[in-house]
Amino acid sequence: MTLPGSPFLAYRGTDLFLDDVRLSDLVRQHGSPLYVYSRRAMLAALAPYQKALKGRPHLVCYAIKANSNLAVLQTFAQAGCGFDIVSAGELARVQAAGGDPGKVVFSGVGKTRAEMQLGIEAGVRCFNVESTAELEVLSEVASRLGRQARVSLRVNPDVDAGTHPYISTGLKGNKFGIAHEEALATYKRAATLPGLEVVGIDCHIGSQITDIAPYLDALDRVLDLVEAIEAAGMPIHHMDLGGGLGITYTDETPPAADVLIGQLLQRIDARGHGHREVLFEPGRSLVGNAGVLLTEVLFLKPGEQKNFCVVDAAMNDLMRPALYEAYMGIVNVNQRAEPGQVWDVVGPVCESGDWLGRDRTLTVKAGDVLAVLSAGAYGMTMASNYNTRGRAAELMVDGAQVWVIREREAVKSLFEEERLIK
Ligand code: LLP
Repeated sequence: MTLPGSPFLAYRGTDLFLDDVRLSDLVRQHGSPLYVYSRRAMLAALAPYQKALKGRPHLVCYAIKANSNLAVLQTFAQAGCGFDIVSAGELARVQAAGGDPGKVVFSGVGKTRAEMQLGIEAGVRCFNVESTAELEVLSEVASRLGRQARVSLRVNPDVDAGTHPYISTGLKGNKFGIAHEEALATYKRAATLPGLEVVGIDCHIGSQITDIAPYLDALDRVLDLVEAIEAAGMPIHHMDLGGGLGITYTDETPPAADVLIGQLLQRIDARGHGHREVLFEPGRSLVGNAGVLLTEVLFLKPGEQKNFCVVDAAMNDLMRPALYEAYMGIVNVNQRAEPGQVWDVVGPVCESGDWLGRDRTLTVKAGDVLAVLSAGAYGMTMASNYNTRGRAAELMVDGAQVWVIREREAVKSLFEEERLIK
């Protein structure tokens, strides 16, 4: 039986496997909670992007905020990807993983001067700039270094991506990007600044998008701007169409990446822009369904109104349910024959918002291991130490091979940098 979203995660008999690895064995050997990712699944998710873009100038910049483990970055760097980063910390990760800064686009609405300097010195390919104020500061920082920073303006196309309000970014009311009406004037301003070289245009309209239509609308708006900007005498080398493609958590049916890109390229060609380099910044669609979070059942707590299944992973390990009321599949890694009961799967953290799944039918006993599905994106990267809980260990599998790619965080390290008052 295959589970939603990933052909790499399937039951063999009663046991759940990721690739050729039995997940219950991993918890026995490495403890719980535990993030496990499949390298094959990541590369399989990248393949349709590469296939659709073959034969034309392009760069897939993996948005590392989705999962920034060094081994994940290494996997994508070796597959030829660039990276979309939003902080100096993410830049340092790319460098530590052997990624090429020359293939990095530096996004984000609030870069500091120090981050700009680090980006310029590392030789990032381009800064995605989100305001006039940022343009001025970036020019100043670059000029002080005797350099020119390559920039692309992130424009806000004002289209509704039809996703959760916290992860919709392309609407007028969002903090992101430069308003469509102001874009041309901002490009003109950028062209006068000595520390900048304008090279592209960028947009990103949201995350977990499951329709093609908002992408096409945004693209049309971007192409209108490209035409206006070039008519004003400023050449645009590349178009960065952002990330945002959704995945199947339960019954969503997002388009395949090659179908989405095929349609975008068709529109680009039809409007006479086929010569332009295209960039994408996918995060979730490359890693989301490549990973699971494994967690052991501590106690069953049946009640009058609700049955609680208390597990050892919590909102600090996986914030998505608490923060967005996100649905993530939950299954027992050892299928049991008895009929299930309805449970709220909750963690040990002292908050009622600390739940991983509500009203889930599961056949479960204390000591069982549950897998939270689709946890490869925005799982570990959003984890915290709330309640002084060390973060989970991370493993990568490929076929039958298993690598520890992050050790479990030791409690001592959680307050190593704190000091008692003398
Ligand atoms: N580029 C930019 C400028 C972004 O802001 C993002 C995501 C991406 C690319 C990658 O988007 P993706 O392909 O992953 O959808 N924590 C939330 C998702 C936040 C997304 C923020 N920006 C979640 O767990 O659903």
